[in-house]
Amino acid sequence: MAKFLIKGGRALEGEIKINGSKNAALPVLASSILFSALGGPASGWKNIIEIENLPNIEDTKRMKELLDKLDADGKIDYEIAKKFRASILPVGGALARFGKVSFPHPGGCVIGERPIDVFLDGWKAMGAKTKLSENVPTDYVITAPEGLFGVDYTFKIPSVTGTEALIMTAVLARGTTILRNAVLEPEIKYLADFLNANGAKIAGAGTTTIKIEGRSGELLKYSARFTAPPDRIEAGSFAILGALLGKNLRIKNFVAEELPTFLALLSNVGAEYIIENKDLIFINSYKKTLRASNVITKEFPGFPTDLQAPFTVLLTQADGQSLVHETVFEGRLNYIQDLNKMGSRITLCDPHRAIIYGPAKLFGRTMESPDIRAGLAFIIAALIAEGESTIENIYQIDRGYENIDYRLCSIGADIKRV
Ligand code: EPZ
Repeated sequence: MAKFLIKGGRALEGEIKINGSKNAALPVLASSILFSALGGPASGWKNIIEIENLPNIEDTKRMKELLDKLDADGKIDYEIAKKFRASILPVGGALARFGKVSFPHPGGCVIGERPIDVFLDGWKAMGAKTKLSENVPTDYVITAPEGLFGVDYTFKIPSVTGTEALIMTAVLARGTTILRNAVLEPEIKYLADFLNANGAKIAGAGTTTIKIEGRSGELLKYSARFTAPPDRIEAGSFAILGALLGKNLRIKNFVAEELPTFLALLSNVGAEYIIENKDLIFINSYKKTLRASNVITKEFPGFPTDLQAPFTVLLTQADGQSLVHETVFEGRLNYIQDLNKMGSRITLCDPHRAIIYGPAKLFGRTMESPDIRAGLAFIIAALIAEGESTIENIYQIDRGYENIDYRLCSIGADIKRV
C-alpha cells in the first residue's frame, strides 16, 4: 500500500495551478446516461460526452468504470458503487432511461451516516417504486412501471448530489418538475448549464427553486462539451497552505467568487493575500502569526464543510481559542485525535464542535488518511510539523487530488510516495 513520507518546515514558493473540479465533473460524467449515441439511442451512449480539464483522480476513474459496466438491465456495479458516494449520481438517469435500476447503498467518505432518503423520496414522488433486497437491506431495486412524471418536490434537507440526481431524473421525465429548497453550490449550475447547452430546459439553477421541463424519455443529443472548472476545494486547501507556508507563492486559476466565506475567514485570521485576476498570491506568509477565529460550516455560500479539516489545521497555528462548528456532517471531526497526537491542543466538545487552543507546535507522526479532505489536512499538518510524517491509506487522497505529491513538490514541499 502506497504512503507518503513528508518532511515538514519548508517554505512554499513558485506557482501551482488548481486542477479540474471533482465535484463538478462527477455529475456531468454521470449525466452521459441521458444522451443518445451518435448512431442511435439503442446502445453506445458510453463515453459520448467530452470533458476538458477532467481531473485524473480515482473518483473520476471509478465513475467511468461504473458507467462502462452499466447496461439496459439498470444494474449498477456493486463493488464499484461501494467505493464512492457519487455512485448514486447515475441512478436517477438509469431509472428514467431503462425503467429500472438496482444499486447498493453508496460508499465513500465515512463522515457521518449519509442516508439517501431525499433521493428515494424524490423518485417515489415521480412515480417510482422502491424495494429493498431481502438478503441485504441496504441494496435497492427501483422500478418505474408507468414511467416517471414531473412533480413539485421540496427537499426536506438541502442536498448537493440529491439536487443533481433529481435534476437529471427530471430531464427524462414526463412533464415539468419543480425542485424547491435546492442547494446553491456552483456545481449545480455547472451541471444545468452543460445539460441546457445540449438541449435540456432547466431554469433557476443556482437559486433555491429549479424548474425542469421533462422530455418524456427523449434522450439528449450531444453537441456541446464540458470544461471542468477549477476545483474550489483544492483552491481553498492551497490557500491554507499559502497562508501557513507561502513565500512568493502564486496559486493559479483561483475563482474567488466560489469561496466567499472562506476568504472572509482567511482575512479574519490575519492571512495576507493578493488577488490578481485569477491568481491568489501570498508574498510572505511563512511562519507569520495568525489570529484565532470561529468557523461554522454551511451550504453555499457558507463555509464549505470540505474545507473544515484543512482550516482546523490552520487554526492550530493561530493565537488564541477558536471554535469549529461542523453543521453539515455528524462524523467529520474524527481526524482530530490524530492532530492532537502531533501536538495540537484541540478539545472535541461533541461530534459537531471542537475548540482549538493555539498556537501549537506540531511534530511529525504516522497517520492514516480517513477520507479525502482529512487526508489533505494531514498533508498540511505534516508540512508545517517538525520532523517527518508518514501518511498511510493515500488512496483516499488520490480519490480527490491529482498527483498531489508531485505538484506540491514543485513548489518546494518534501513529499515522497513510497
Ligand atoms: C456533496 O456530498 C459532496 N460530494 C461532498 O464532498 C460535500 O461534503 C457535500 O456535498 C456537502 O457540501 C459530491 O459532490 C460528490 P449532501 P453529498 O447530500 O451530496 C444529509 C468530498 O470530499 N442527507 O449535500 O453526499 C447528509 O447526511 C465530498 O468531495 C440526508 O440526510 O452531501 C448531510 O448531513 C465529501 N439524506 C447533509 O444532508 C439524504 O438523502 C448534506 O449532504 C442526503 C443527504
